[in-house]
This record gives sequence, C-alpha cells and structure tokens, in this order.
Amino acid sequence: MDRRQYSASAARNRDPILGILKDHLPESGTVLEVASGSGEHAVHFAPHFPNLNWQATNYDTTQLNSVIDWIAHSPSGNLLPPLKLDATATIWPIEADGYTAMPITAIFNVNMIHISPWCVCEGLMAGAGRILQKGGRLFIYGPFKIDGKHTAPTNEQFDEWLRADNADYGIRDQRNVIAEAEKNGLVHMQAISMPANNFLQIFEHT
Ligand SMILES: C[S@@+](CC[C@H](N)C(=O)[O-])C[C@H]1O[C@@H](n2cnc3c(N)ncnc32)[C@H](O)[C@@H]1O
Repeated sequence: MDRRQYSASAARNRDPILGILKDHLPESGTVLEVASGSGEHAVHFAPHFPNLNWQATNYDTTQLNSVIDWIAHSPSGNLLPPLKLDATATIWPIEADGYTAMPITAIFNVNMIHISPWCVCEGLMAGAGRILQKGGRLFIYGPFKIDGKHTAPTNEQFDEWLRADNADYGIRDQRNVIAEAEKNGLVHMQAISMPANNFLQIFEHT
C-alpha cells in the first residue's frame, strides 16, 4: 500500500523556499523539520544539501507514514528515519538518550503556527531554544500579520476561515512570534517576503 500524501501548497512553495534555504542553511549538522506534513518538502530539499542530515518529523501518525513512504520512493542518503514529534512536548525525541544525529544546526517549519493553537508556536520556540546551539537557525514559513495588519485581503479571508474552523487558530502577528522567540534566546534576523503573501522568518540562537 502506498501511503504517500500530496500537498498542493508544498508543490507550489517548495522551489521558492529552496532558493532561500540555499543561501541561509548552515554548512553542516542536521536540519530538524518540525511538522513535515506529507514529506514532499523533505524529499525535495534533502538532495540539495548533501552535507546536511534532514530529520523529518510529524505529530500525526498518518502523515508520519506518508513521510516514510515518500522517503522509500525518493531516497536520499541524508534523509534520516522520520520521528513522531509534538512541538508542545517539553522533551522532544531528539533530546532522548541515543539520538545520534546531533548537532541540530537548523529547525525548519512550514505552515504550522497559524494552523494550530498558539501553544504550538510556544512549544516550537521553547524547543528551538533548548536544542539549537549558538548560531543555530530557526526558519518559519507562512503568512504573518505585520504590526497587527494583514498583508493582503486574501490573508484576511484565510484568517477568518481558519478562526471559524478553530478559534485558537489564526495568522500570527510577526511581533508576537518575535517576542516568543526572544523569550527563548532567539533573535530575529530577517523576514523574507515570499510569493502569495507569505514570509520566511529567520531566527538565530544567540
Ligand atoms: C498545514 S500542515 C503543514 C505541513 C507541512 N509543513 C507542509 O507545508 O505541507 C500543518 C501541520 O502542523 C502539524 N501540527 C499541528 N500541531 C502540531 C504539534 N503540536 N506538533 C507538531 N506538529 C503539529 C499538523 O500535524 C500538520 O502536519
């Protein structure tokens, strides 16, 4: 049985994201992807960074199985076996004894913090603060509000739709995300404007 899932948004955003990652990912170590979804990003990106390991993870078991099957279908020597990871957990599986692909030099996260409660963003920042060493980078991709305002009417509509589905979801304000990062020892380096009114936010551990 083929358990691979397909994400239209991942297919659309992967090449613009790749262009940025090529300039900003570290030279060595492991990229920890939090919320890998279908796994299409992991198998698309990993072969472009042969000096890095790519550690995909998922909260959801069905999506974890999709990543496993994508890796089986499109293998790359630097793709590590995917792990189950809940960003809100106070100890992530890679912090457990026996995890060998250290150091984690980057954490990568796409389209998660607006499609989950705020505590998931808090958990992501706390985990990045615990795991990344000085100079390690956190990349967060998605739509953001800037100074309380949406950057496009389509984002405003999307935000209303998200919050109608779940009152705890919603497009986050960049300043709140930065404040949460700072609580955990991360500084905001750059907000890179991406297609379709998205941003790639880059943080660095100090
Ligand atoms: C819209 S999907 C994005 C998936 C993938 N990054 C992509 O771009 O296709 C949102 C993801 O956030 C994940 N998620 C929600 N809550 C989470 C949590 N507490 N910890 C980790 N992932 C979570 C969901 O399981 C889902 O895979």
